[in-house]
Amino acid sequence: MQPQPLVLANWKLNGDRQLVTSMVSALRDAADSLHGVNVGICPPAIYIPALTEACYYDAIGVGVQHISEHPKGAYTGELAVSMVKEFGVDYVLIGHSERRSLYQESDQQVAAKVAQVTSAGLTAVVCVGESEAQREAGETLTVVKAQLAAALQGLAQSSPALLVIAYEPVWAIGTGQTATPEQAQQVHAEIRSWLQQQLGDAGKDITLLYGGSVKPDNAAELFAQADINGGLIGGASLVADDFIAICQAAR
Ligand code: G3P
Repeated sequence: MQPQPLVLANWKLNGDRQLVTSMVSALRDAADSLHGVNVGICPPAIYIPALTEACYYDAIGVGVQHISEHPKGAYTGELAVSMVKEFGVDYVLIGHSERRSLYQESDQQVAAKVAQVTSAGLTAVVCVGESEAQREAGETLTVVKAQLAAALQGLAQSSPALLVIAYEPVWAIGTGQTATPEQAQQVHAEIRSWLQQQLGDAGKDITLLYGGSVKPDNAAELFAQADINGGLIGGASLVADDFIAICQAAR
């Protein structure tokens, strides 16, 4: 099985109920141009019920941007895997750089979350990536491989088919400073090689997404790279025409 083309929207702390309905409507109208691409939306969690209702009859995946590593208990403000699964969630973003930097999400927590998510049968989308300082210090692959190791530690009892890796160089997120296709492909090829060393043939099938200032005018060249199977899209995913153009580029 080849990695499946996948484009996920990460709305972060943006959007409203109107965007949920308008985005689903626009994706429905464009459905014929999106065959062969898996598309998903990760809105703020409060909009998950509205999204799952709006896209009930559409091939649109639903995701959450954050999850607790705990199954239940005294963790104010958190959401458990069992809870989001009840509402039809397919994808769970884990270890986004903003969670790592702003909320101190550790590799140990990433491992625990991957275990919770994949053992529940949901797809864990693990975000990895280096800072500008780490890239300039030549530490990109060291950083990324350490983050990947945590993801695989959590996968121990589950299927690699439930793991997606999103390489998001921190210096490209929200900056308009997109990694060049060559820069992105170089890291993706190393990720693919590392996964195959760890998992054998199963490592070939894991979907690898690029994230970091993906726009309609750069998506096709990025997604044409051998080891880039799609994207994790921030700002551009809030504009229907732009997000649809990016999804179309992943066919
Ligand atoms: O998770 C995707 C996000 O970090 C990328 O953001 O705005 O650079 O597409 P953006």
